Amino acid sequence: MTDRMDDEIIGEFLLTARSLAEYRAMFALTEDDLRGRVLDCPGGAAGFTGEIAELGVSAVAVDPFYALPAKQVCETALADTDRGNAWSATHGEMYLWDWYDGDPEVHRRIRHDAVRRFGADLEAHPDRYVAAGLPALPFPDNDFDLVLSSHLLFTYADRLDTDFHLAALAELARVSRGEVRVYPLLDHSGAALPDLLASLRAALAQRGIRTELRETVAYEFQSGARDMLVLRSASAEES
Ligand SMILES: C[S@@+](CC[C@H](N)C(=O)[O-])C[C@H]1O[C@@H](n2cnc3c(N)ncnc32)[C@H](O)[C@@H]1O
Repeated sequence: MTDRMDDEIIGEFLLTARSLAEYRAMFALTEDDLRGRVLDCPGGAAGFTGEIAELGVSAVAVDPFYALPAKQVCETALADTDRGNAWSATHGEMYLWDWYDGDPEVHRRIRHDAVRRFGADLEAHPDRYVAAGLPALPFPDNDFDLVLSSHLLFTYADRLDTDFHLAALAELARVSRGEVRVYPLLDHSGAALPDLLASLRAALAQRGIRTELRETVAYEFQSGARDMLVLRSASAEES
């Protein structure tokens, strides 16, 4: 488990910035997935939303951080990128660096580029970035064709409890008329969470939300993070 020193380095929630290439790999995204209306929650400072908008997707990102001035969000994201990069470089045994050419500096560069893309897109298209937070999203039912959620649920299971996870997953399913994909399913110390996962899947099934585990194949940075959780609500099944 995370010790106090690690907590001081990681902070409450890191404001991370991943690229479209990382999202494609993490969520096994195909060209077919990237069409219509797509939600990224939490969006963090990911370049993903701006990048898919350039491909013609109607993209929206949600994060409580967007309530802060854009300059502060970008400065925090750059500082957090360096903190996160330093943490993973000094805990190298917990990570597989292949996707980043075996080089923490490549990882750092990709994340910095993502922050820059994010900052430019936030300035040009603030409407794409909604300041809100799980478990309550300001969207109608079935509003999105695809909903993605990375590095909040499960990652921070040490501070977000089972009830929060269940309410958050049900909310993500409510706003999706297609799939919800969640990755990774480990916490940030790299621990698997089989009990949490099993109880959430059982509770979601009772609410008519089907779940499956799907291998991501192309991406495994946190050692052992090979699966994503896929949700489909009853209304998504019908459509
Ligand atoms: C580690 S980042 C992940 C960002 C992005 N998905 C990525 O992979 O780079 C975690 C994010 O969760 C956001 N967050 C914290 N509480 C949240 C909540 N209740 N609802 C939505 N996002 C939240 C934080 O502000 C932070 O930006």
